[in-house]
Amino acid sequence: MKSQQEAGKLPHPAHRLVTWYKQAHRQLPWRNTKDPYRILVSETMLQQTRVETVIPYYHAFLERFPDISSLAAAEEDEVLKQWQGLGYYSRARNLKKAAEVVVSQHGGVMPDTIESLLSLPGVGPYTAGAVASIAFDKPAPAVDGNVLRVIARFCGIVDPIDTLAAKRKVTEIVSQWGMEEQPSLFTQSIMELGATVCTPRSPKCDVCPLKEDCVAYLTGQTDVLPLKTPKKPRKIIRVIAFWLENEQGILLEKRPNHGLLAGMWQLPSVETDWKDGDQKNTGEVHETNLLVPDAELDSGSGSKLGPKLGSKLDAELDSQLVRLVTMPRGAEQVTTSRAAEEKLRSYVLVGEEKHIFTHIEWRVQVFRPVGINLSQVEFAPDREMMFVQRAEIRQYVLPRVYEKIIGSILGERVR
Ligand code: ADE
Ligand code: SF4
Repeated sequence: MKSQQEAGKLPHPAHRLVTWYKQAHRQLPWRNTKDPYRILVSETMLQQTRVETVIPYYHAFLERFPDISSLAAAEEDEVLKQWQGLGYYSRARNLKKAAEVVVSQHGGVMPDTIESLLSLPGVGPYTAGAVASIAFDKPAPAVDGNVLRVIARFCGIVDPIDTLAAKRKVTEIVSQWGMEEQPSLFTQSIMELGATVCTPRSPKCDVCPLKEDCVAYLTGQTDVLPLKTPKKPRKIIRVIAFWLENEQGILLEKRPNHGLLAGMWQLPSVETDWKDGDQKNTGEVHETNLLVPDAELDSGSGSKLGPKLGSKLDAELDSQLVRLVTMPRGAEQVTTSRAAEEKLRSYVLVGEEKHIFTHIEWRVQVFRPVGINLSQVEFAPDREMMFVQRAEIRQYVLPRVYEKIIGSILGERVR
């Protein structure tokens, strides 16, 4: 095959890609612009998120933040609101920070060199290469998952695709190919091929402009390449959350300002490693009228709450609850004293939901304590908490899993 190319019969792959792209590409909103801000927004949204999902968010985001200075001037909460549902919220936080840097250090004009783009928060080699090539027509490699797959197949690269070795090889090849063509068209053409033709499963090799000399195609390895390092199983985290509601509302806490789902609001909760058997201790989710006063629940047989949960679980839940809230002395209730324990406080499982992140899985269970006077709770000093009225919950940015649980507990969609 190589000799065919050398003999000049087959145009350079970059040229074939661009020729194909010109007649086969999809019309996507970010393809009607050279505005580097818009390219940055679209490329940021498109990381880890599908094109169809991104399109409405892209329009709404640019409607609200039409230029980089409006994004820089916005409140972070409002940016997160616009992002809500796209996930991976650090992308949104970094995009806003990047806008601030562009305004404060570049006079509000997006920089056009790889080095200065790389210095913006959240902008890595891929995004820098995409903005530099697509918006500024600079010959810069932009290697995303699509590009890795296309090149690994075309060149028959057998290093697992998630390794540095594979990434280096692919970047080198893409840099060379990029010199052969107009950078903006080349970057988009190879991504587009990966998205629409050289797809992860069942690539459409019969319509591919690279099939004549594609190693994977010619050797029947399109469903083997690219190779991947086997994944470690996800760590399972048990999340014990509490439904603590009084006349002031439902108690919510703010997650820390860094790490997973930073700064979002949720039910007060404790995260623990999942141990075999944790599930067995709990009953099923049962219907409960959460507004029934505690006294009524206490005086009843308890049977209307469904199966009684084991006292071992109750004791565990008590010890977790005291990490979140305490009652002042004399107000009775959540203490570890024997007398209080003998009052047989119990917990009702009112909701549960799983949520899968990249490396971990959450198994969230929400418990409502029975027999606790919530009028005088004191919050743990290291947590930011407040009571929020049911009708106002939708004004807060909650992780999707909590929206789902709260919605099902309240019998409505929170959002
Ligand atoms: N995925 C990442 N960047 C893209 C782009 N510019 N167009 C389509 N899909 C993409
Ligand atoms: Fe991908 Fe098939 Fe084209 Fe090779 S021929 S680049 S495997 S679509």
